[in-house]
Order: sequence, then structure tokens, then C-alpha cells
Amino acid sequence: MNTLIKTPEAIEKLRVSARLAAEALEMITPHVKPGVTTDELNQICHDYITNEQQAFPSSLGYNGFPKSMCTSINHVVCHGIPSDRVLKNGDILNIDITVLKDGYHGDTSKMFLIGKVSVLAERLVRVTQECLYRGIAVVKPGCTLGDIGAAIQQHAHANRFSVVREYCGHGIGENMHEDPQILHYGIAGQGMALQEGMTFTIEPMINAGKAAVKLLSDDWTVVTKDHSLSAQWEHIVLVTKDGHEVLTRRSEEPVL
Ligand code: MF3
Ligand code: CO
Ligand code: CO
Repeated sequence: MNTLIKTPEAIEKLRVSARLAAEALEMITPHVKPGVTTDELNQICHDYITNEQQAFPSSLGYNGFPKSMCTSINHVVCHGIPSDRVLKNGDILNIDITVLKDGYHGDTSKMFLIGKVSVLAERLVRVTQECLYRGIAVVKPGCTLGDIGAAIQQHAHANRFSVVREYCGHGIGENMHEDPQILHYGIAGQGMALQEGMTFTIEPMINAGKAAVKLLSDDWTVVTKDHSLSAQWEHIVLVTKDGHEVLTRRSEEPVL
């Protein structure tokens, strides 16, 4: 079965799951402050998703992942594991939440500035969100995957930042990760053309230093090789007849 193009019924279910993931991020936001551990944030999210949303945190047990969300601090690129690490003034943090409801996955992440952060950290976080928004902006039927990657890469490079190449966005639906792969770099006009009904994430990981990453011995945590700061933002995008719709938009964001 072709899962690249979703049926209207599938899109409605995905819409619900995406909204739940976005709402979990909104719920956790006031809890994210200096002094809290990432384990405490994980527990709050786990309880909210299972009890309030009557959904399941897709990360838990995914290929053996031990927690209900990913928490990636400072030079951690992605897939950080919640722990007794206390958030402190100056940290930057990504929280990435995936929920499974009625057979469909919603997946979204945002960055948090803990207390007062450096000018560089603030700029990296802002530019990375702009990279996501620029990638989203080009999405419409007929645009290519290369157009998305090129838009992201161009903005990162214009700001002297680098794009992580080892991890990418992904189709999403009944599986957390489906085709197509959404690279966050590329050449305009290249790659598959988008069609109405496709649903996928865009989730650029942008480094303040070099692009190279390495995997820690826990087999999950991905860090920058040069220990430079890294940021990431993630949304699910639906290709519509005339453009796109962001299914994980939070109320703090404009219509993208
Ligand atoms: N949410 C991640 C993504 O955006 C996947 C996390 S899988 C986990 O694709 F096992 F690391 F949680
Ligand atoms: Co994702
Ligand atoms: Co995610």
C-alpha cells in the first residue's frame, strides 16, 4: 500500500495525534526552568500523555529507547535521554515528543532557553527555527525535496552555521518513521516532487560549529564532534492542494 499519499481518514487521525504532541509541548513549557531535571520533565510528560491524552509516548521502548521523550541539551544534537541532569542558567534544551493515538503518530520538538543564555546560543536557536520555517514555506505540490533542503541549508550557511547530515526528517503516519526521508540540505529542483496528501516532518539540526556528529556509548545520545552548540525544531507538515498546513503548530506561533 502506498503510504506516501494519505487518505482523508488517515489525515484526520494524524491531525489529532499531531495536535496532541503540540499540546504536550505547550503543557511542559512552564515547567522548563533552572533547577528541574530532565527526568522530572519526562515524568510530567509521560503522565500527561498517558492519563490526560489517553495516548502513548511513542519514544518509550522504540528500538529500546528508555524514556517517553528526548531531551537534548547544549552540544547534544538529538536523542538525548532524560536523566538526573539539572537544567541550569545558560543551557539550551530541545524537547522532542512523539505520541501515538488511534494508530497514528504525532512528532514535534521545540527549543527552550534556560535563564539567560549566550548571544551565540540565542542566535543559533532563532536561526534554526527560521531554517524550519523557511523549509516549511516552500512546501506545495510540485516543489521537490531538494527545494526544502536547499532553503534550510542556505539560511544556515548564510549565518555561518552548519547542517547535520546524518539525521533527517521523515514521512509520518501509522509508523513514526516512514518514507520519504527529508534531508535538511540539498539542491533546489532535485529529488522527488511533493504531492497533495503527503505528510512528513521537517526537523533541522543546526550546529554552531562543524557539521560532524558522534554517537555516545549509550547508543542514543548524538553530540557534535567539536562540542559546539546544536539546536533543533520539528514540525509535521501536510501538503495541501495549494500549499501546506503545519499540523503541530502551537498557539504561540503564527500560521506558517
Ligand atoms: N522524535 C524523534 C524524531 O523526530 C525520534 C525519537 S526516537 C527515540 O524522529 F527513540 F529516540 F525516542
Ligand atoms: Co521526527
Ligand atoms: Co521528533
